[in-house]
Amino acid sequence: MANENLGAAKKAKNDEFYTQYADIEKEMNAYLEYNPDVFRDKTILLPCDDPEWSNFTKYFAQNFDTFGLKKLISTSYAPNSKPKTVPYQPALFELEDERFDEVKTKANGKIFTLTRDTSGDKRIDVDDLEWSYLDGDGDFRSEEVTKLRDEADVIITNPPFSLFREFLFWILSGSKRFSIIGNMNAITYKETFPLIKGNEMWLGMSISSGDREFGVPDSYPLESAGWRVDDSGAKFIRVKGVRWFTNIEHGKRHLPLPLMTKADNIKFSKHKEVKGVEYQTYDNYDAIEVPFTDAIPSDYEGIMGVPISFLDKYSPEQFLILGMCENEDLYGLKTKRYSSSECKEAYLAKFNKPGTYDLNASGVLVLEGRLEKVYQRILIRHRRPA
Ligand SMILES: C[S@@+](CC[C@H](N)C(=O)[O-])C[C@H]1O[C@@H](n2cnc3c(N)ncnc32)[C@H](O)[C@@H]1O
Repeated sequence: MANENLGAAKKAKNDEFYTQYADIEKEMNAYLEYNPDVFRDKTILLPCDDPEWSNFTKYFAQNFDTFGLKKLISTSYAPNSKPKTVPYQPALFELEDERFDEVKTKANGKIFTLTRDTSGDKRIDVDDLEWSYLDGDGDFRSEEVTKLRDEADVIITNPPFSLFREFLFWILSGSKRFSIIGNMNAITYKETFPLIKGNEMWLGMSISSGDREFGVPDSYPLESAGWRVDDSGAKFIRVKGVRWFTNIEHGKRHLPLPLMTKADNIKFSKHKEVKGVEYQTYDNYDAIEVPFTDAIPSDYEGIMGVPISFLDKYSPEQFLILGMCENEDLYGLKTKRYSSSECKEAYLAKFNKPGTYDLNASGVLVLEGRLEKVYQRILIRHRRPA
């Protein structure tokens, strides 16, 4: 039971990462550059937010007129539904409002909407946000928030990491435009990858490597590396592997990746694994192993296995995605299956201790006569090998 509580607390702790204004701005700018009217006359919903101070709410409220928005809606999750360690103090605007309710402030979510100039300064901006308590706790799965989803044209947020998959499918069942932050691993889920393969979802423009800094609650234990406290005492941590997942167009995904031919890669590659070495063929796919995206040979006509970070550079005009080694049964590309004894043997040969690799859930190379699993690979082909 203690372990269960610990697990739940850890999961919930990972849900409390607050996005910085500059990160939101950079990504939205990529959509606006591609189509300056991308948000015109649209209703934007920002769920799983903290509208009192969220940078998502601030950014879209600030730009309401410039973008020509029709309506901005943002909703928050009730403090009582969050982990107990997340501190809560009602904001001044709420405390001073005659509608302030001591029970609802903790038990209910809130909704903020922006549609008109309420302050009389002839602009629509943050000062014109109108608020009320939601009937429920603001769970995105509730009927109340689902109705808001149905009303919206575009959904933008950094959802709780622990519910990413559920959140994505919640959005998709409403067939909306969206841009949401999640972990790169989300690409590999067997429910998610078909969306990437089918060009129904792609990675955003502004985050493609390294880590990003997120705000965290005051109570967040800063035991990990890469944290910072600013002059006001606000805490930030750096999170690895995050990406924007979206179905909003941006220019970067239409830029072809500059590549060398196979022969030139072998001659000039900066990677020791490629330079002077022939590309290897998998034992269980009719495909070659390409360990780095920039080592994709421009003239190879067959199937290539590339790292998942390839998707940061993926242009659908240049490449066709065929599948993933890990999800191979979905696509029928596998040429061979391994028995459980082969799987055990491969592990033993590598680690010299009993254990099992699921070789069938990976690309496999024969290295010095033994079977070896490679990292997660996406199987691709050039549309027009050069
Ligand atoms: C990763 S944080 C991001 C917050 C904000 N969108 C931002 O980027 O600054 C996710 C938020 O969703 C809230 N949350 C967790 N579970 C939720 C649920 N089932 N429904 C709605 N919100 C939820 C968390 O409490 C947290 O505040």
